[in-house]
Amino acid sequence: STILVLHGPNLNMLGTREPELYGRETLADIDDRLHHQAAQQGHHLLHLQSNAEYELIERIHDARNEGVDFIIINPAAFTHTSVALRDALLASGIPFIEVHLSNVYAREAFRHHSYFSDIAEGVICGLGSQGYDLALQAALQRIHR
Ligand code: DQA
Repeated sequence: STILVLHGPNLNMLGTREPELYGRETLADIDDRLHHQAAQQGHHLLHLQSNAEYELIERIHDARNEGVDFIIINPAAFTHTSVALRDALLASGIPFIEVHLSNVYAREAFRHHSYFSDIAEGVICGLGSQGYDLALQAALQRIHR
Protein backbone atom coordinates (compact mmCIF):
# COMPACT_ATOMS: atom_id res chain seq x y z
CA SER A 1 0.00 0.00 0.00
CA THR A 2 0.96 3.65 -0.39
CA ILE A 3 1.27 6.28 2.32
CA LEU A 4 1.61 9.98 1.54
CA VAL A 5 3.35 12.21 4.09
CA LEU A 6 2.63 15.94 3.76
CA HIS A 7 4.49 18.71 5.54
CA GLY A 8 3.21 22.28 5.56
CA PRO A 9 4.93 25.66 5.58
CA ASN A 10 8.28 26.32 7.26
CA LEU A 11 8.89 22.65 8.01
CA ASN A 12 11.71 22.78 5.43
CA MET A 13 13.48 24.82 8.12
CA LEU A 14 13.49 21.95 10.62
CA GLY A 15 16.83 21.45 12.31
CA THR A 16 17.53 25.15 12.64
CA ARG A 17 14.02 26.50 13.22
CA GLU A 18 13.36 27.08 16.96
CA PRO A 19 15.13 23.80 17.83
CA GLU A 20 13.97 23.93 21.46
CA LEU A 21 10.41 23.59 20.13
CA TYR A 22 10.88 21.51 17.01
CA GLY A 23 14.07 19.51 17.60
CA ARG A 24 17.41 19.31 15.78
CA GLU A 25 16.51 16.73 13.17
CA THR A 26 16.03 17.92 9.62
CA LEU A 27 12.98 17.10 7.54
CA ALA A 28 15.17 14.87 5.34
CA ASP A 29 16.19 12.89 8.47
CA ILE A 30 12.53 12.33 9.31
CA ASP A 31 11.42 11.49 5.75
CA ASP A 32 14.34 9.05 5.30
CA ARG A 33 13.45 7.24 8.49
CA LEU A 34 9.78 6.97 7.51
CA HIS A 35 10.75 5.66 4.06
CA HIS A 36 12.89 3.02 5.65
CA GLN A 37 10.17 1.94 8.09
CA ALA A 38 7.53 1.73 5.35
CA ALA A 39 9.83 -0.17 2.97
CA GLN A 40 10.79 -2.65 5.68
CA GLN A 41 7.13 -3.56 6.03
CA GLY A 42 6.64 -3.76 2.28
CA HIS A 43 4.91 -0.42 1.76
CA HIS A 44 5.55 2.57 -0.41
CA LEU A 45 5.98 6.06 1.06
CA LEU A 46 5.67 9.34 -0.81
CA HIS A 47 6.34 12.72 0.72
CA LEU A 48 6.03 16.42 -0.03
CA GLN A 49 6.85 19.56 1.90
CA SER A 50 5.44 22.81 0.58
CA ASN A 51 5.16 26.38 1.73
CA ALA A 52 2.31 26.90 -0.76
CA GLU A 53 -1.23 25.95 0.14
CA TYR A 54 -2.23 25.22 -3.48
CA GLU A 55 0.64 22.72 -3.90
CA LEU A 56 -0.51 20.72 -0.89
CA ILE A 57 -4.10 20.85 -2.16
CA GLU A 58 -3.11 19.65 -5.62
CA ARG A 59 -0.97 16.89 -4.12
CA ILE A 60 -4.04 15.66 -2.23
CA HIS A 61 -6.15 15.74 -5.42
CA ASP A 62 -3.51 13.68 -7.23
CA ALA A 63 -3.28 11.26 -4.30
CA ARG A 64 -6.86 10.23 -4.91
CA ASN A 65 -6.08 9.23 -8.51
CA GLU A 66 -2.85 7.48 -7.49
CA GLY A 67 -4.65 5.24 -5.03
CA VAL A 68 -2.90 6.55 -1.93
CA ASP A 69 -4.28 4.56 1.00
CA PHE A 70 -3.46 6.84 3.88
CA ILE A 71 -2.16 10.37 4.49
CA ILE A 72 -0.02 11.59 7.37
CA ILE A 73 -0.10 15.38 7.48
CA ASN A 74 1.51 18.10 9.54
CA PRO A 75 -0.34 21.11 8.13
CA ALA A 76 1.93 23.41 10.23
CA ALA A 77 0.50 26.97 10.30
CA PHE A 78 -2.24 25.96 7.82
CA THR A 79 -3.65 23.86 10.69
CA HIS A 80 -5.09 27.01 12.14
CA THR A 81 -6.13 28.76 8.92
CA SER A 82 -6.95 26.48 6.01
CA VAL A 83 -10.52 25.57 5.18
CA ALA A 84 -9.25 24.85 1.65
CA LEU A 85 -6.85 22.14 2.79
CA ARG A 86 -9.55 20.65 4.99
CA ASP A 87 -11.92 20.55 2.03
CA ALA A 88 -9.26 18.89 -0.14
CA LEU A 89 -8.85 16.09 2.40
CA LEU A 90 -12.62 15.66 2.65
CA ALA A 91 -12.90 15.58 -1.15
CA SER A 92 -10.16 12.95 -1.38
CA GLY A 93 -11.92 10.62 1.02
CA ILE A 94 -8.47 9.37 2.09
CA PRO A 95 -8.13 8.73 5.83
CA PHE A 96 -5.45 10.78 7.54
CA ILE A 97 -3.61 11.33 10.80
CA GLU A 98 -2.70 14.87 11.90
CA VAL A 99 0.77 15.28 13.42
CA HIS A 100 2.40 18.20 15.22
CA LEU A 101 5.92 18.16 16.59
CA SER A 102 5.17 20.58 19.40
CA ASN A 103 2.38 20.44 21.94
CA VAL A 104 0.14 23.05 20.35
CA TYR A 105 -2.07 23.09 23.47
CA ALA A 106 0.84 24.34 25.59
CA ARG A 107 1.36 27.27 23.21
CA GLU A 108 -0.53 30.39 22.05
CA ALA A 109 -4.34 30.22 22.05
CA PHE A 110 -4.49 30.61 18.27
CA ARG A 111 -2.77 27.21 17.97
CA HIS A 112 -5.48 25.46 19.99
CA HIS A 113 -7.91 25.33 17.08
CA SER A 114 -7.35 22.97 14.17
CA TYR A 115 -9.38 22.79 10.96
CA PHE A 116 -8.37 19.11 10.73
CA SER A 117 -8.72 17.38 14.07
CA ASP A 118 -12.46 16.65 13.90
CA ILE A 119 -12.12 14.90 10.53
CA ALA A 120 -8.80 13.12 11.28
CA GLU A 121 -8.57 9.42 12.18
CA GLY A 122 -6.36 10.59 15.01
CA VAL A 123 -4.13 13.42 16.15
CA ILE A 124 -0.62 13.24 17.62
CA CYS A 125 1.08 16.30 19.06
CA GLY A 126 3.90 17.19 21.41
CA LEU A 127 6.05 14.09 20.89
CA GLY A 128 8.47 15.63 18.43
CA SER A 129 9.42 13.67 15.34
CA GLN A 130 8.43 10.41 17.07
CA GLY A 131 4.86 11.50 16.32
CA TYR A 132 5.46 10.70 12.64
CA ASP A 133 6.78 7.22 13.47
CA LEU A 134 3.75 6.50 15.63
CA ALA A 135 1.42 7.85 12.95
CA LEU A 136 3.03 5.60 10.33
CA GLN A 137 2.69 2.57 12.59
CA ALA A 138 -0.99 3.36 13.17
CA ALA A 139 -1.62 4.01 9.47
CA LEU A 140 -0.08 0.67 8.44
CA GLN A 141 -2.13 -1.20 11.02
CA ARG A 142 -5.31 0.48 9.83
CA ILE A 143 -4.61 -0.39 6.21
CA HIS A 144 -4.17 -4.06 7.17
CA ARG A 145 -7.44 -4.30 9.01
C1 DQA B 1 3.34 22.73 14.08
C2 DQA B 1 2.55 23.62 15.04
C3 DQA B 1 1.94 24.81 14.31
O1 DQA B 1 1.21 25.62 15.21
C4 DQA B 1 3.05 25.65 13.69
O2 DQA B 1 2.48 26.70 12.93
C5 DQA B 1 3.99 24.85 12.88
C6 DQA B 1 4.40 23.51 13.31
C7 DQA B 1 4.09 21.59 14.81
O3 DQA B 1 4.50 20.65 14.15
O4 DQA B 1 4.28 21.67 16.04
O5 DQA B 1 4.53 25.34 11.87
O6 DQA B 1 2.43 22.13 13.16
